[in-house]
Amino acid sequence: MNQSRAQHTPRGVGVMCDFHADRAENATLWDVEGRQFTDFAAGIAVLNTGHRHPRVMEAIAAQLGRFTHTAYQVVPYAGYITLAQRLNEIVPIKGPNKTALFTTGAEAVENAVKIARAYTGRAGVIAFSGAFHGRTLLGMALTGKVTPYKVGFGPFPSDIYHAPFPNALHGVSTAQSLQALESLFKTDVDPNRVAAIIVEPVQGEGGFQPAPADFMRGLRAICDRHGIVLIADEVQTGFGRTGKLFAMQHFDVQPDLMTMAKSLGGGMPLSAVSGRAEIMDAPLPGGLGGTYAGNPLAVAAAHAVLDVIAEEQLCDRAAALGQQLKTHLEAQRAKCPALAEVRGLGSMVAAEFCDPATGAPNAEAASRVQKRALDAGLVLLTCGTYGNVIRFLYPLTIPQAQFDAALAVLTQALAA
Ligand SMILES: Cc1ncc(COP(=O)(O)O)c(C=O)c1O
Repeated sequence: MNQSRAQHTPRGVGVMCDFHADRAENATLWDVEGRQFTDFAAGIAVLNTGHRHPRVMEAIAAQLGRFTHTAYQVVPYAGYITLAQRLNEIVPIKGPNKTALFTTGAEAVENAVKIARAYTGRAGVIAFSGAFHGRTLLGMALTGKVTPYKVGFGPFPSDIYHAPFPNALHGVSTAQSLQALESLFKTDVDPNRVAAIIVEPVQGEGGFQPAPADFMRGLRAICDRHGIVLIADEVQTGFGRTGKLFAMQHFDVQPDLMTMAKSLGGGMPLSAVSGRAEIMDAPLPGGLGGTYAGNPLAVAAAHAVLDVIAEEQLCDRAAALGQQLKTHLEAQRAKCPALAEVRGLGSMVAAEFCDPATGAPNAEAASRVQKRALDAGLVLLTCGTYGNVIRFLYPLTIPQAQFDAALAVLTQALAA
């Protein structure tokens, strides 16, 4: 099958594993040869409620028996409206709020920028180094990592600016990041022409870097001073991953708009933009939407996902599992000198690998650990601007015994 993949699909759709999925249940995946894997990638942060959660499956099956598509903008349905209402009530933005549904994370990001531009009548958008906001033209322009996301794909939309994201391990302080924004306003763009600042409260692809609280407060102050819309991109951080429903709840500031996707749909493609009603209402009727936006099956799944997160107390579970993982990783540091830092909020945990002598990022060490773990049946993902970070994205519903067994595999992979 690998040969046929190489023949029929382009190399640009890069693939990590050389085996092919057959079926999956909660935190376990089986390949077509019947081999079993513990899935700490969870479809890149999509399965906080696990593969095929029975409640999610039931909700999809019930919807499947009614209708699968009408195009919400043509014939609306109640599930979309009640999901919008639920999201309006739970996002950490003081209402009244409104929500529009889409299909992918990149689409949510694109639409949040459209909404901010329509509201402010301005064009500029500021994002951060190391950020990831998707692979569409605007999403990749906002993304702060060149290889592989931008190589060969320019020119990019204009009026996009980047400032450094704070990173204590690599010597960028909050003060320097905020100062860089002020410099940007002096050298590149008039703040009165900036529609939005978009920020991940914990950078995902960029290395599971939590934003420092004073940085987030600084961004809010800059946005307030200049009438800029603050967009929190919670596509990867949302729905319990960080130990709270949304990562912004770790901060004492509120965004104006929030993007969500991934675990919202429990395995179905669904994304959302929620935010202050007066901002959300800026685009003209017909300016937002999409043929598949807010697909009925995905909407039904999302309702079940929200129920499961609340009923199974998955935020608390994320905090407990994350603490166990961090303690476990810290205990391995003596045996693995390349393990430079263990960090994260809740279950959004990262292990960063650097050369112990020079402090230089060590992507080779990260991929060695990843490969050893995979050989032993544990699927891990890497991330980071230098590819030297392992991120942990297990389903929050993982049975305790399976989690403990995975940590034992990790110990072996780190020590070998
Ligand atoms: C923070 C963030 N924003 C946007 C995206 C893009 O989402 P999608 O791949 O669904 O378009 C991602 C995907 O990893 C992400 O992590």
